[in-house]
Amino acid sequence: MFEHKNYSGEKTKDYELLIKQLDALSEGEKNNVALLSNASALLNQFLTEVNWVGFYLWEENELILGPFQGLPACIRIPYGKGVCGTAVSEQQTQRVDDVHAFPGHIACDGATNSEIVVPITFDNQIYGVLDIDSPINNRFDEEDQYFLEKFVLHLTKHLQ
Ligand code: SME
Repeated sequence: MFEHKNYSGEKTKDYELLIKQLDALSEGEKNNVALLSNASALLNQFLTEVNWVGFYLWEENELILGPFQGLPACIRIPYGKGVCGTAVSEQQTQRVDDVHAFPGHIACDGATNSEIVVPITFDNQIYGVLDIDSPINNRFDEEDQYFLEKFVLHLTKHLQ
């Protein structure tokens, strides 16, 4: 899935280091809440210009708020609703340059202008999403998407 990209430069190196840090932090831990909590803290520390970063977890046909960094957020998101629910229904990353132009966007933090939501699959089933919001438009490019998907793939290898 990731073999064909050939990014280079500082951003690439920073993301590669971030993923190594995730693996090192997660090694040997079996508690998913602890793993997701540290993963959100790590992303929040690493990423610039973000106002919310965290997880929604799939439970009984809806997404429920999980570990995160940022302002209090809406707790439940139905299948197919908002950017997060769309990432689940379409089973693919949603990169939204301007959330105000996204039909049905759920505004939890009024400061958000762009966002990326990466679906998390574990054991061949939907597990949840990684949701990252930014106060600026067009915050996330193709390279961010590539490495955040890679980050999620590494994270799932630590989940139980
Ligand atoms: N942006 C999300 C809602 C969750 S908050 O941003 C934390 C959405 O529209 O799915």
